Amino acid sequence: MCGIIGVIGHSKVSSLLIEGLKRLEYRGYDSAGIATLLNGRIDRRRSLGKIENLKKLLKKNPIKGNVGIGHTRWATHGIPSRTNAHPHSSGDVAVVHNGIIENYDVLRKDLERKNIIFESDTDTEVIAHLISFFLKKNLSPLKATITALKKVEGAFALGIIFSGINNYLICAKRGSPLAIGKGKNCNYIGSDSIALAPLTQKLCYLNEGDIAEITSKDFKVYDQNGKRVKRKITITSLANNKIKMGGYNHFMQKEIFEQPAVIGDALKYFIDTKKKKLLIPSFAKTIKKIKEIYIAACGTSYHASLIGKYWLEKYANIKTEVDIASEFRYRNIINIKNSLGIFLSQSGETADTLAVLRYFNQQKGKTLGIINSAESSIARESNHVMETHAGPEIGVASTKAFTTQLVALGTLTLFMANFNKAIGRNEMNKLSNALLEAPGQISKILKMDNIFHKTATSIKNAKNVLYIGRGTSYPVALEGALKLKEISYIHAEGYPAGEIKHGPIALVEKGVPVIVIAPSDQLIDKTISNVEELLSRGAKIIFISDKKGIKKINNKKITTICLPESHEIISPILYSIPVQLIAYHTAVLKGTDVDQPRNLAKSVTVE
Ligand code: AGP
Repeated sequence: MCGIIGVIGHSKVSSLLIEGLKRLEYRGYDSAGIATLLNGRIDRRRSLGKIENLKKLLKKNPIKGNVGIGHTRWATHGIPSRTNAHPHSSGDVAVVHNGIIENYDVLRKDLERKNIIFESDTDTEVIAHLISFFLKKNLSPLKATITALKKVEGAFALGIIFSGINNYLICAKRGSPLAIGKGKNCNYIGSDSIALAPLTQKLCYLNEGDIAEITSKDFKVYDQNGKRVKRKITITSLANNKIKMGGYNHFMQKEIFEQPAVIGDALKYFIDTKKKKLLIPSFAKTIKKIKEIYIAACGTSYHASLIGKYWLEKYANIKTEVDIASEFRYRNIINIKNSLGIFLSQSGETADTLAVLRYFNQQKGKTLGIINSAESSIARESNHVMETHAGPEIGVASTKAFTTQLVALGTLTLFMANFNKAIGRNEMNKLSNALLEAPGQISKILKMDNIFHKTATSIKNAKNVLYIGRGTSYPVALEGALKLKEISYIHAEGYPAGEIKHGPIALVEKGVPVIVIAPSDQLIDKTISNVEELLSRGAKIIFISDKKGIKKINNKKITTICLPESHEIISPILYSIPVQLIAYHTAVLKGTDVDQPRNLAKSVTVE
């Protein structure tokens, strides 16, 4: 969950490193630092807090050089502090690292026994000392790095510079994402294409275990045994202008409001909007024999997976099991061979989700990655890929990635339903037309933004907020609660409406806000009885429904929010807009850091 960047061959290396770190800040932002090489000498600047603080430090105390490495941190080992900020150095080596060294304790004790003094509490510093130790045994920088990394267990994406070797940088990858960017007389390394897009479109994604020697002119890649290997250069599709805030106050706000356009674009990849027919995915023949689907995901992607489960079972008649990836990976899954594993991930780098994918690959299960980052590890390691085409999502709280995941799952459902002849032509047309209506319906809901702002004002001082729903509205309740807690820091929980009386209702006392997700589907009457139970205990009910549903509520004490009527297959997409905006406005009212909430990072690449 950290971001690393490296530049070699540019006279203004410090400013390029800072700009790159700004673009990586969404991956972690509790401290940052850079190190550069000038006339063979390594110089370093590090600061606590955001990149802005590092920028101020460099203004006062600049460093020069034309090769350098940079790092923005999400602390895993050692508190956020300047001493624990990267780059970490030892003798003639400076290192930046994203990942976790699992055996760092053993390695540290071993190095301390050799009288090597540590300055930080991080696992990363072990790598710097190990490389320096082997350099002192007269190994070349490459050999010293390979030898050191053979002792390391765990995940890393590394950038390394060496005193005395001006035009030279080493990078290495195992378990954390890393790409080399090929420029003109200047080369780069970065944790992802977002960091490198403004510098170059030519990217070389390293494979597991790869190590590369980079100069300003070229680079050479080796496998973990030091054997030269060839890696292809791809042209990233990420245009730099997509990473701008575009007049909004926050990336999250921009990403909420661009959902009609983004979903409209995504639908073009899945449904031929002219002929109104499904665009059959490339993996059609593979999924013919699928009897069962397992979906593994985390956080918001897990909530989308739960909705996918309802759809796949209801419309495609296919048994679907969903589990949180960090739990899934320790289960003993029976009969993976005849099932399809689906891995839902915006970043495509979530360590737990990636671990389940690798487990499925090992067990020879078929795997489908539904991802938003085409060049990610999950995309590269899945047998098949469905891209959600949401464009770069910078706000840590996921919004457009969630709704485009639902569009992808919805079209996958239609495709499987068609295949299993589970529904007729008419219903198929009705469902695909409903999906095609989503962008227009979302635009109408976005125009109600002031209503959601008012709702946020009414809950911003709450200590606890409950979200409830039934059927596919239950995962929307989970998603609403996650949005609120992760950016406003108010404790919030999502629950199946029917579950409230099995405990959570004890939390309800006068004024506790309960946000009810209740499209007028076949479950609404049962949800309304739950609303009565809550109301009689003093809850402040915010009832989000449509005209038909609200007609059933005749109690002035209930705040109702009326959305456009919609087909049930798109109600989870539509009803996530209010919960996104309620969370967004509550966070703004509370003055929290909307795009980079405390303790979080956009891509959880550590377990
Ligand atoms: C959602 O708002 C959070 N940022 C988080 O739960 C996220 O959904 C989760 O970490 C999974 O990320 P992924 O989709 O990139 O795998």
